[in-house]
This record gives sequence, C-alpha cells and structure tokens, in this order.
Amino acid sequence: MNSIHPSKDFSDLLSLQPGDRSQLIKKVTDYYLQFLDGLPEGKAYLGDEDAGKALGSMPFQENPYPIDQIFEVFHQSVTENGINPCSGKHFGYVPGGGIETAAWGDFLGALTNRYSGVNFANPGAVRMENQVISWMCNLVGYDQRSHGSLLSGGSIANLTGIIAARDHKELKARDFERAVIYLTDETHHCVQKALRLAGMGESVIRYVQMDENFSMRPEALEAIIKEDLGLGLIPFLLIGSAGTTNTGAIDPLDRLADIASNHKIWFHVDAAYGGFFLLVEALRSKFKGMEKADSIVMDPHKSLFMPYGSGVILVRNAEHLFKSNYYTAAYLQDDMEGQDERSPADYSPELTRHFRGMRLWFSLSMLGISPFRQILAEKIDLSHYFYREIQNAGFEVGPFPALSISLFRYVPKEGDANEANTKLLTMIHEDGQIFVSSTTILGVLWIRMAILVFRAHLKEVDFAIKTMEKLKNSMNIH
Ligand SMILES: Cc1ncc(COP(=O)(O)O)c(C=O)c1O
Repeated sequence: MNSIHPSKDFSDLLSLQPGDRSQLIKKVTDYYLQFLDGLPEGKAYLGDEDAGKALGSMPFQENPYPIDQIFEVFHQSVTENGINPCSGKHFGYVPGGGIETAAWGDFLGALTNRYSGVNFANPGAVRMENQVISWMCNLVGYDQRSHGSLLSGGSIANLTGIIAARDHKELKARDFERAVIYLTDETHHCVQKALRLAGMGESVIRYVQMDENFSMRPEALEAIIKEDLGLGLIPFLLIGSAGTTNTGAIDPLDRLADIASNHKIWFHVDAAYGGFFLLVEALRSKFKGMEKADSIVMDPHKSLFMPYGSGVILVRNAEHLFKSNYYTAAYLQDDMEGQDERSPADYSPELTRHFRGMRLWFSLSMLGISPFRQILAEKIDLSHYFYREIQNAGFEVGPFPALSISLFRYVPKEGDANEANTKLLTMIHEDGQIFVSSTTILGVLWIRMAILVFRAHLKEVDFAIKTMEKLKNSMNIH
C-alpha cells in the first residue's frame, strides 16, 4: 500500500516537469535550426575512427545526466561523423532523404503513440496508412484489388514479396530444390538474402544475360526458362529491377511481365530506388509493364525523401499478401467483426509496429505532391548535366544514366586504372567535402555519382565535379 499510495505519482518520474519541458523544447529547437544552417557549408563525410567513443564516458546510471552533456555527446558521436545523408553533397550509394515534415510527422505519431496494427485499435490511423498505400498503388497503375504494406525498408519489403510469391505458388519444402528464380547480376543482394531467409537458399538461381546497359535480355530469359522446363525444374519467380543500385538500369518490364505471365511465373519488381520516379510524367514510359507485376517494392526513404525506416511492398492482388500474413488469436477477437477497413497486421509480418503512415501522410498533406515531382525531375536533369560535364573534366563514363546514377572513372595514360581510382576515392573521402561511393563491374572499378538528395542542386553538382577534377589533377599520375 505504501508504494501505491495516491500521494505517489510515479508517472511523474517518466514525464517532463514544465520547466524541464521548456528547456528541452528550446534545446531541440536551437539544435534543429543550427543543424539546418550548417548543412550548406558542412562536410558530406567525416571519417573518424574514434567517433562514438565519448558514449563510453556516459554509461547508464540510476540518475540522469545533464541535458547539455547529453546533447554534446549526441552531436559529437552521431551527427558529427560518418556520411551526412542530409547534405546536398552526398552522392554515394543510394542517398536517403530526411525532409523536415516527415520528422514532425514522426514526432506527432510517437507523441500520440497510436496503434496502427489493427483496425479496431485506431480506425483513423489504419485508414491513414491505407490511404498512403492506395496512393502508391494508384501511382504504379494497380487497380482496386491491389494493396500493400508499409515496412521498414527495401530489404524487408523484398522479403515480404518473395514470401507472398512462395505461398501463392504453394511451393512445399520438397519443391524448393527444383524451384528456379530468375534475376541478373545487377539485382540488389537483399533479394538473394531474402530467398535464404524465406527458406529457399537451396533453390536454383539463374543469372540472366544483360545488354550493354545492364538490363535483362528478354530473349535470354525466354531461352533459359525453356531449358529449365526441359530439365523438369519449376520456373517460379522472376525478379525485375526498376532502377538498379549500381547504375539505375531499368529492365524491360513489359516484355518480362509477358514472359512471366506466359509461363505462370510470379513477377516481382524491385523499384526500391526507381519507383517514385513514376511521379515524373516524362519518365513513365520507362516503367511500362510494371503495373503487370505481381508485387512491387518501393522505398520512400530513397526517392520520396523520407527519413530511414520506410519501405513498401505493393501487390496486384491483396489476397496474396493476406494469405502469407493473416493469423489470429483469441486475445485479438475484439478486432474480428464488422471491420470494413483492412488491418495492416493482416498484410504484414508485424503486429505491433511503428506508425509509419504518419510521416508520409503528414508530408504529402503539408507539401502536396507537386514538389516531389519537381525535385525528382530536377535530379534527372542534374544527372544528364553531370554525365556531360564529368567527361569534359577528363573522366571516362559508363552507360548514359537511365535515372539519376552515373558511373565514371579516371583512366591514366599509364598504370592500373583501378588502382588510380581507388586512390582518387580515398582522397575524395579524406577531403570529405563531397561523398561518392564506388562499385566494380566485370573487374572495372567505377566511381558512382547518385544524385538523389533533395538538397543537391546545380551548385552542389558543379562543386562535386570541380572537387574531383582538382583531386585527380593533384595525383601524380597522367
Ligand atoms: C534497388 C534496391 N533494392 C533494395 C535495396 C535495399 O533496401 P534497404 O536498404 O531499404 O533495405 C536497395 C538499397 O539501396 C536498392 O538500391
């Protein structure tokens, strides 16, 4: 009775007192504004092996630490090192986003902590998520039968799509060794990882030939499927890419969809990077046929500029996702009757989940769709500009960018080009003003320029070209 006496309010221990709350709001607001102010001149990359060591000086203890110390350690350990995904000069990997409205959406979602897993718990939160999913289904050209799930990223979304394919095809464990998956060398590695996670690590993987732009050759696919049928194998899953990670290549989706349909193969498209470029009217024809895919992955934390933690699986037929994910239990019985809205938990491996729709709904409502279209179109134009200008700066280039990723490298008159580019890359990283990453294709090391950060404009791209030209010229190789 002593510990539960009304005079004791333990919830106070986990709440902020009015004075502390005002102090925190001021601290956060100051930090927010300083962070944004520092972005244009700040580095895109800071390699610091000691980063985060200050955390060791702050082990968790019974009592709190002073707020200034907490902010200082966060700033030094996390914000002030590594790649800065918010920098307009970050051109590595597939850059992420981090728009402010999404951060506010997350804040409101977390503060109110609404449960968006089942309809009964919060029909409004569920309708909000479903509205976001419908908008995306509509964008890819799916009809009313379609649905999807907001997940944490492209890897989990690909896994969820592959599991839906496996279950729809009713493959049993004894079939796995004969089931065939068709993809290319350029398919993102998370697909192979997902196959293993889905229990299909021992299935047959066919790496279909590509053309000179790293897109799958449909004739090669057709031929290999016929061979596999002759061998008594089970052609099961075709993975198309709409924007590969290495070069942004888009497979011939229309042809692939028809081949898959003729052979009753599940057609899955990984559009984690490329998908939202559908918002740019002039690019829509590149994605023709994607609407025929059985499942599609898109990553709002890439080309919709959301903070990390947003991937989406869409399926042409909602039933397929439901079949893999629906489960129930007696303790969930209150949710079972009279619900006309689809519960996210029935279409996802997750039950209790982050309210992911909020950041998307809030941003799309606060900003409208138009800015996203304009910024994505700008990235395409910037990539075309970069492709031309980097050649003028003395670099060799890879294929013309299908979307916003270019490959380029320096080819010295003498010596090993791969070594020269590795050295150049190290110098770019040590300098840190810009950030680019590299890849190796058929033994050739390429530097990649992925233009996707919403703060990257002509000024930042010109700065990147000048920086790389200067560093190249400072190398003693000609
Ligand atoms: C084409 C493609 N697919 C899948 C992924 C994996 O997505 P995530 O990193 O969100 O798990 C990526 C990541 O860059 C990607 O570029």
